[in-house]
Amino acid sequence: MVKPSENVKSLRAQVSLVVLMFWLKTKIIEGGGSLRRLSKEARGYERVLILSSRSMKRHGFLKEAEDYVREAGAEVFSIAGLPAEPSVEVIEEFLPKVKDFEPDLLVALGGGSVIDTTKALKVFYDAPGLNFEEIAFIDRFSKPKPVPKLRTKLIAIPSTSGAGSEVSAASVLKKGDVKYNIVTPEIAPDVAILDPRLPKTMPREVARNSGLDVLVHGIEAYTTKVASDFSDAMAMRAIKTVFGFLEKSLEGDGEARERMHYASTMAGIAFLNARLGLCHAMSHKAAWIGPHGLLNAILLPYVMEFNATKSDYARRRYDEIARELSLRDWRELIDAVRGLNERTGVPRLSELVDEETFMAKLDEMAEKAYRDGLVAFNPVEPKPDEIRELYLRAYRGE
Ligand SMILES: NC(=O)c1ccc[n+]([C@@H]2O[C@H](COP(=O)([O-])OP(=O)(O)OC[C@H]3O[C@@H](n4cnc5c(N)ncnc54)[C@H](OP(=O)(O)O)[C@@H]3O)[C@@H](O)[C@H]2O)c1
Ligand SMILES: [Fe+2]
Repeated sequence: MVKPSENVKSLRAQVSLVVLMFWLKTKIIEGGGSLRRLSKEARGYERVLILSSRSMKRHGFLKEAEDYVREAGAEVFSIAGLPAEPSVEVIEEFLPKVKDFEPDLLVALGGGSVIDTTKALKVFYDAPGLNFEEIAFIDRFSKPKPVPKLRTKLIAIPSTSGAGSEVSAASVLKKGDVKYNIVTPEIAPDVAILDPRLPKTMPREVARNSGLDVLVHGIEAYTTKVASDFSDAMAMRAIKTVFGFLEKSLEGDGEARERMHYASTMAGIAFLNARLGLCHAMSHKAAWIGPHGLLNAILLPYVMEFNATKSDYARRRYDEIARELSLRDWRELIDAVRGLNERTGVPRLSELVDEETFMAKLDEMAEKAYRDGLVAFNPVEPKPDEIRELYLRAYRGE
C-alpha cells in the first residue's frame, strides 16, 4: 500500500481549500494496427485535413491514414511537411491552407510538433480574430485572454513517444528564441489513436529525446503543488516504464517500444492535471539550443537537486519515487536519472552551444524562465538568480 508521507499530508492540508480536479477529454484507442480505427472515427465528417511531417509520408502511414478517411466517405486533403519544434511563423504559413480547405475534422499524424501545430491551427481557424500574444501564457504575472469555444474536432495520432500532446491541453510554440504555451481544454484532442507501429520507425535519437521527456513529465507531474492521487498513478506508472523499458526500446525491442508509447500518453494525462515545473520552464526558455526532450533531460537532475535541497515536500516525493524503483532515497533517484542520461548518450549543454553565445543569453533566459507560468506549480519558487545558477551549473556539467 502507498503510504502518504507526513509532508505530503501537511502540504495537502495547507491547500485543503483548493479543490483539485482530474479530467481527460480524449478518447484513447490503442493497439497494433489501431490506425485503422480512423475510418470509424472519421465517419460523419465531410472534409478531413491530415497534418503530418515528412517521415509519416516516407513510411507510408500518411497514405494509410488517407485511405481510412476515404473509406469513411470523407474528402481528404493532406499537408506533409510540418517542421519539428514549431514556431508562430509556421502557424502563419499553414493557416491559409487550412482556411482554403475548410475542414470539419483535423487529424494530426506525427510527433508532438505536428500535434502542437495542428492544435494552434485549430485555434486560429476556428477563432480568426485572435492573435498568439493575447492568448498565450507569456508571463505568469499577467493573464491571457480566454480562448472561446472551438468547433472543429481533432484526432491526434502520435508517432513519437514523448510529448503527450495527444491528450494535453497545451500547444507549445516558439516565438523568437523561446517557447510559450497556449493552454485551453478546447485544444485537447477529442480522440487519440496509439498505434505502436508508428513509433517503431523513430530513429534512435528521436526515441531517446522523446522518451526522456516522458521521464521528465512523470517526475515533474509527481512533484508539483497540485499533484493528486489520480495524477500520481499515471505519473508513477510512466516513470517506472521509462526506467524499465527505455533502454530496451532504444536497442530495438518492439515490446519495450510499445510500452514506452503508452507510458508517454500516461505521463501526458499526469501533467494535463498536475502540470509541470521548473525544468520545463527552463527548457522552454532555452529552446533555441536544441530539441525539447534533450534539453529537459539535461536540466532535470539540476532542478531535482535544487528542489530537494529547498523543499521537504519535494524530497519526500522524490523518496516515494525512489522506493517504487527499489532505490533508497532522492539522492539515489537523482543518480539514477544521471545514469540513464549517460547510458543513453545525452550530451552536455556545452556540447550543444558555445560558451560565449550561452553566456550572452543567460540573464534573459533566467528572467524569462522565472516569469514562466509553470514555475507556479514547482514545489519551490526560485529566484531569477537561482535559475541563472542552475543554467550555469548545467552548462558546466557540475
Ligand atoms: N503540447 C504539449 O503538451 C507538449 C508537451 C511536451 C513537448 N511538447 C512539444 O513537442 C515537441 C517535441 O515533440 P516530440 O518529442 O514528439 O518530437 P517531434 O519534434 O515531433 O519530432 C522530432 C522529429 O522526429 C521525426 N519523427 C517523428 N516521428 C517519427 C517516426 N515515427 N519515424 C521517423 N521519424 C519520426 C520527425 O522527422 P520528420 O520531420 O522527418 O517527420 C521530427 O523531425 C516540442 O516542440 C515540444 O515543445 C509539447
Ligand atoms: Fe515536455
